[in-house]
Amino acid sequence: MKLLFFDAKPYDKQSFDEYLPDHPEIELEYTDTELTPRTASLAMGYEAICAFVNADLGKRTLQVLHHVGVRLILLRCAGFNHVDMEAARACGLCVMRVPGYSPEAVAEHAMALAMAVNRKLHKAYVRVRENNFSVSGLTGRDLCGKVAGIVGTGKIGLSMCRICRGFGMRVLAYDVRESSEAVRIGVEYCSLDVLLSQSDLISLHCPLTEGTHHLIRSETIAQMKPGVIFVNTSRGALVDTEDLIAGIRERRFHGVALDVYEEEGDNVFENREDDILASSVVARLLSFPNVIVTSHQGFLTAEALSAIAQTTLANASAYAEGTVLEENVVK
Ligand code: NAI
Repeated sequence: MKLLFFDAKPYDKQSFDEYLPDHPEIELEYTDTELTPRTASLAMGYEAICAFVNADLGKRTLQVLHHVGVRLILLRCAGFNHVDMEAARACGLCVMRVPGYSPEAVAEHAMALAMAVNRKLHKAYVRVRENNFSVSGLTGRDLCGKVAGIVGTGKIGLSMCRICRGFGMRVLAYDVRESSEAVRIGVEYCSLDVLLSQSDLISLHCPLTEGTHHLIRSETIAQMKPGVIFVNTSRGALVDTEDLIAGIRERRFHGVALDVYEEEGDNVFENREDDILASSVVARLLSFPNVIVTSHQGFLTAEALSAIAQTTLANASAYAEGTVLEENVVK
């Protein structure tokens, strides 16, 4: 099977090259080009392509891929909200993903962000580097004994619940379906309203769907406890960024930490240090002293990259052999 790997980064090549010898039937080529409707035709002559969360997998791209002979789309990520599945089905394209690679990678990053913004590590780091050893303005809060509110207790959310329990926190959770494992470790399920109004730390771990789009907006921000720490490592559009910015201006948050945000598309994984940003969203978010933004790096651990490479290559081989694992196929 000939496979073209779009938007390849050095860490992708390292992990995929390690496991490629286990799949002699796969002929893999990398391109650092991003996948867009204009670049999709590069896949001519390839049966499969591999793409990440930031790829444009809208209708036009899928139609071009289909037209040049691609049959299989291998997502090297868990989320698939960026794929126009109606168009994929219409084109007869099979879309496969990596449903779970290292939930701990994302959950640990969520807690790292929460702690960084809580204890103002982003400011402390810069101060000490400048020989400024003053700690005024760096006061944080103990998490032990406080309430964590976890929205979505799937693989990543459950891992975050364990971490919060380990910190000595009471954990409230909201999900459309309860996890017995979460209940077993002492998580208390409640309504979203109760979670928002009682939590000192709120972390989002649900997928982006029509029902969760702008779950966090002015109405839900108004329900939050004053001085809450808010973390989003899930998907940017779960949060209405303009409403979030208004809430930050109204001093509702002790800290806001985002690994994902609306309009991240052009920035994620790119070095834009010489650019003048066209949109003011990131610039405005970064202008606040109690906001930390990372660039969709929750997944980025050695363990997660290895698991992503192994599952993606196994998905390709299984497709070639007609033995796909149904749970890895996006329906
Ligand atoms: P999962 O499918 O195991 O869990 C999602 C949970 O959300 C499920 O328990 C589901 O019932 C729940 N849910 C669905 N609709 C809901 C709603 N309306 N309200 C509350 N809960 C709802 O998914 P997993 O692996 O835990 O991933 C969660 C999300 O994390 C992904 O959808 C993705 O957006 C994000 N993610 C972010 C990464 C990063 O690098 N920052 C990497 C991987 C995933």
